[in-house]
Amino acid sequence: LFSHDYYHIIYFSKTGQFIQCADGDILRSLKSEPASLPAEDISTNSNGPKQDLLFDEDPEDLFAEATEEVSLDSPERDLLLSDGPSPAITPITPPTSVITPYVFCLNCPLRDNRHIEEEEGGDLFDMNISVSDPEKVGDGMNAYMAYKVTTKTSMSVFKRTEFSVKRRFSDFLGLHSKLASKYLHVGYIVPPAPEKSIVGMTKVKVGKEDQSSNEFVEKRRSALERYLMRTVKHPVLLKDPDVLQFLESSDLPRAVSTQALSSAGLLRMVNKAADAVNKMTIKMNESDAWFEEKQQHFENLDVQLRKLHASVESLVCHRKELSVNTAQFAKSAAMLGNSEDHTALSRALSQLAEVEEKIDQLHQDQANADFYLFSELLGDYVRLITAVKGVFDHRMKTWQKWQDSQMLLQKKREAEAKLQFTNKPDKLQQAKDEIKELEGKVQQGERDFEQISKTIRKEVSRFEKDRVKDFKTIIIKYLESLVQTQQQLIKYWEAFLPEAKAIS
Ligand SMILES: *[C@@H]1O[C@H](CO)[C@@H](O)[C@H](O)[C@H]1NC(C)=O
Ligand SMILES: *[C@@H]1O[C@H](CO)[C@@H](O)[C@H](O)[C@H]1NC(C)=O
Repeated sequence: LFSHDYYHIIYFSKTGQFIQCADGDILRSLKSEPASLPAEDISTNSNGPKQDLLFDEDPEDLFAEATEEVSLDSPERDLLLSDGPSPAITPITPPTSVITPYVFCLNCPLRDNRHIEEEEGGDLFDMNISVSDPEKVGDGMNAYMAYKVTTKTSMSVFKRTEFSVKRRFSDFLGLHSKLASKYLHVGYIVPPAPEKSIVGMTKVKVGKEDQSSNEFVEKRRSALERYLMRTVKHPVLLKDPDVLQFLESSDLPRAVSTQALSSAGLLRMVNKAADAVNKMTIKMNESDAWFEEKQQHFENLDVQLRKLHASVESLVCHRKELSVNTAQFAKSAAMLGNSEDHTALSRALSQLAEVEEKIDQLHQDQANADFYLFSELLGDYVRLITAVKGVFDHRMKTWQKWQDSQMLLQKKREAEAKLQFTNKPDKLQQAKDEIKELEGKVQQGERDFEQISKTIRKEVSRFEKDRVKDFKTIIIKYLESLVQTQQQLIKYWEAFLPEAKAIS
């Protein structure tokens, strides 16, 4: 399928299996464009083999979504699966909603792939949120930081294309707790808000502006920005009135109840409740292998991510220490240079000091990249996975509720059977009424369980796709920063070498 900007390619077998995507070269020949386009057309935009772009998404998952979008006997499906000419040759244009899950982007940079995913509303996801201008408001222990939240978007759900509001940290917490209470229990993965840090904030409140409080504010600012982006990327959360109000409304009601409760505290509470459920219930009879497998997968992921996160954090510390020691070394070299009589040696030493000063800066920058790119990504995902495990727990609770009413129903039925043999028409009627009510509850319980299971499947598949994209984008950025640092290091040393050689 060809459209103006992007190529959409779908191959299906007659059994409806997703087979493969066409290669960019085939596409160009099909579109009868010259086979040898400027190299940048494809290769510079892809950061790896072309295959990666095309197979970015798991074919099986894609089809799983397709079955939801295209019902089994709909005309759209017939069209897609028709016996007719190969879909790769005949450009067919099914309704947008049908092609949505199969959109691949060959022309645009990788990081923009997500912008193409259309939502149900037909609006392309296109918005950028920045959190900036942290500003201390008030004095002493009543002081707080206010941040400017700027949204740029072309999406029709917003009235304007660019707008800013002032928000403080507790507003973010309030937003998260509102969303969590609305969506977690029905199976949506609600991104967790950044953690509260009493130590960090106290420093900012009482302290003067120093290195550590600046670092704290920057860390928080970037965490808030990531939090908002994760939230709005969720197609359901984006449309939530509280989210829209948070982004757009100039006067937000103060979130009183959440002020005292940090997201970490909230998470702990959720976890505690979940633990209680775990202990209370007989192990849930998991008849669904998919859930069993995914739950295991997230358990493993959680453990390994935490380990890696800890390693990267000590790497950051190590790099900061390296930077401090390098600065010390530069100082000492400079002083030695000053007290050196031999002119050439003295000059070389002070040049060495200059080089080391620059290298100190490099180590600092690299420590920041270690932290803001890699470590924070891992930290975010450790907390996101806690949220994923949370929805699994909610599914279990829903199951438990269903089972409880089933058990109650059974007991009532037994009681009713006994009443048949007594002459108590009133009680019998009452029992019958109660049974009717319980039957309704059982049905509702089953529906709820099916619904939450369905939602979680969808959510997890979306989450997994986003996770892979996120990791890919950030790891590439991180590696680029490492390469750049190393190249710069070599340049500095190479420039210094002649100075050392010139000592005579
Ligand atoms: C968001 O940022 C991306 C990448 O920087 C840019 O291509 C896109 O146009 C931006 N969208 C809006 C609405 O500003
Ligand atoms: C779980 O439930 C299924 C069907 O409801 C049943 O066939 C199976 O025996 C149950 N397994 C256990 C361990 O109770």
